[in-house]
Amino acid sequence: MKSVKGFSKLSKEAKIEWLVKEYLDNDQEAYNIIHSYWHDDKDVQKIHDEFIENALTNFYMPYGIAPNFLINDRLFCVPMAIEESSVVAAAAKSATYWMNRGGFKAKVISTLKNGQVHFAYYGDYDKLLKFFNRVKYKFFEDTENITENMRKRGGGIRDIQIINKTFEEPNYYQLNATFETSDAMGANFINSCLEQFSETLKRELLMTTEIEDEYKDIIVIMCILSNYTPECIVHCEVRCPIEDLTGFEGVSPELFAKKFEQAIHVARIEPYRATTHNKGIFNGIDAVILATGNDFRAVEASGHTYASRTGQYRSLTDVNIENGTFHFYIDIPMSLGTVGGITTLHPMVKLSHKILGNPSASELMMVTAAAGLAQNFGAVSSLVTTGIQRGHMKMHLLNILNQLEATDDEKNQIVSYFKSRVVTFPAVTEIFGKIRKGTVDINSKQ
Ligand code: MEV
Repeated sequence: MKSVKGFSKLSKEAKIEWLVKEYLDNDQEAYNIIHSYWHDDKDVQKIHDEFIENALTNFYMPYGIAPNFLINDRLFCVPMAIEESSVVAAAAKSATYWMNRGGFKAKVISTLKNGQVHFAYYGDYDKLLKFFNRVKYKFFEDTENITENMRKRGGGIRDIQIINKTFEEPNYYQLNATFETSDAMGANFINSCLEQFSETLKRELLMTTEIEDEYKDIIVIMCILSNYTPECIVHCEVRCPIEDLTGFEGVSPELFAKKFEQAIHVARIEPYRATTHNKGIFNGIDAVILATGNDFRAVEASGHTYASRTGQYRSLTDVNIENGTFHFYIDIPMSLGTVGGITTLHPMVKLSHKILGNPSASELMMVTAAAGLAQNFGAVSSLVTTGIQRGHMKMHLLNILNQLEATDDEKNQIVSYFKSRVVTFPAVTEIFGKIRKGTVDINSKQ
């Protein structure tokens, strides 16, 4: 195995040849797999190649839809890109369940995003503050060319403040700015503004007489947006009379509501459970975010910070049972875009937006939050009734059969065999072995 210099300058074919030679023992099959995932349409492939550096091929993920999402009285068919077997099934099942009980109600609480210029200043804070307030308008002026288009779309810089952080770190200050980015996620816009703020700050400091010369030379540590967006929040909820919580095997609506409430309380107070609980929520959220070309790492990071805002990591969903009504909801920060980024480039992303009726960023926030809430409802419902493995393993059955290289006929027989049985890996391998050897008549076993 070798290191390499100037790899990014090589042609795509030369990169593949290098990889196959140096890391894959010249394996012809590996070489063929890489090529077999190229798109037939050269133009489409070129778009993908240009998304990242050193692109060799494409990486497929299953892309499915969860229909019947009734959100604010409008039906959505929600596109989801995810590899985990049971996620789309659970989302679709919960969506239909709630469609028959009034659907999801969602609203965007606010859409402000923020970013900081982090800097070190060694002089007097009051003088810095006075100076900043005097020259604040220059930060808006100097970014006018960057903000022009955004302002036309109703966005722009909302405010800039100096924050004194010296009680936590000596000499540490921030320029903290808030932004409205309209239908764009706005990362590039925010970072460009922040980098200009840093230049403006340094220039204005050098020119001012309000601050002593020895303190004018600040150290700009970095300029970067924050992915923590606690002011870019969406709320989504479902509610129904407790007696309508029907359809859960062996559990009355009242017992279901009680156990569901207890399960949510466990996830509110117990970080071990909260982490898995929130992971289930992100099963739904990430899948929609990926399918719509947004940044799931940013939304996850923000969601987890928000889940810890009380000083302890907690569930992102909550439940309220009062006066015979079951009320289940999520509040989650979500910075999404429906313009810019890869939203106008990736053919599948464009398709997702079309399926959703070309939503605004706020509409997409509501749909995505509904997918997260639906996912959580599905997971917790299973956990407090049948247990998770029954549904999960049923969906996983085809993966097991593919691992065992079952034929289509064997798959059909085994899927039908497990319709009324619990799927476990040993149980599947056992019945598969018997079918292969011809020692079992599957039909007589049902
Ligand atoms: C599995 O991907 C997600 C769950 O573990 C979520 C949960 O436990 O709530 C089922």
